[in-house]
Amino acid sequence: MSEIVVFEDVWKIYSPATPLEVQALKGINLKIEKGDFVAILGPSGSGKTTLLNLAGLLDFPTKGKVFIEGKDFLKAKDAEISFVRNKTVGFVFQQPSFLPEFTAIENVMIPAIIGGVSSRVAEKKAIELFKKFNLLDRKNHFPSHLSGGELQRLTVLRAIINDPKIILCDEPTGQLDEENAKTVFEVLAKINEIFGTSILLVTHNRQLTKYVKKVINLKNGFMEVKWD
Ligand SMILES: Nc1ncnc2c1ncn2[C@@H]1O[C@H](COP(=O)(O)OP(=O)(O)OP(=O)(O)O)[C@@H](O)[C@H]1O
Ligand SMILES: [Mg+2]
Repeated sequence: MSEIVVFEDVWKIYSPATPLEVQALKGINLKIEKGDFVAILGPSGSGKTTLLNLAGLLDFPTKGKVFIEGKDFLKAKDAEISFVRNKTVGFVFQQPSFLPEFTAIENVMIPAIIGGVSSRVAEKKAIELFKKFNLLDRKNHFPSHLSGGELQRLTVLRAIINDPKIILCDEPTGQLDEENAKTVFEVLAKINEIFGTSILLVTHNRQLTKYVKKVINLKNGFMEVKWD
């Protein structure tokens, strides 16, 4: 299946029919296919995180449908949703968060072990990734001893340890300087190229869109494709 994530007329309304109602997404249609590297560009409050949460099954639409590899998970059991979140989708959040008492490599191995892989296999796989992305000399460091750029690269490795079909990135370089942001994007581009992993990232930083293949503008919950 080449369509990884599909949105069909997706609306997200927070606190509907109350004085606090917010229409965060208003009829979004979106298709992310295998190998896509797409940025959604929009100002603060335009609905970027809301959209990413729906794409990663962290939340569900008020109206419309979200399909992951052709399946609608609205009525799925929690275990099935957790499985997809562990295997199909990798997340990279704006603020890297790691278990401080575990080393860099152990933090990357954890999603694999949760997914049912032995620690020996998880470690072998993690070492390959650390090698490929030039972090091998940091593998036994604790997160508190790593730089912001290294941590964000580590987040990306943790997101791909289970060979997801898609990586969802929410302002992945929001905390980084330009040089480190560029390095993280190079890692994402390499993953996209060598593994064919789809990447959907959201950002308010127009500068970052130069690294991606396609840009979609999001404004007040509406979207438009800028170029292909
Ligand atoms: N849980 C919630 N309850 C009510 N309103 C919410 C909730 N989460 C987000 N919103 C509102 O929905 C709109 C979209 O929020 P969202 O977090 O998706 O924006 P964003 O584009 O990610 O912004 P930012 O760039 O600041 O992270 C905003 O107006 C926000 O106030
Ligand atoms: Mg956000």
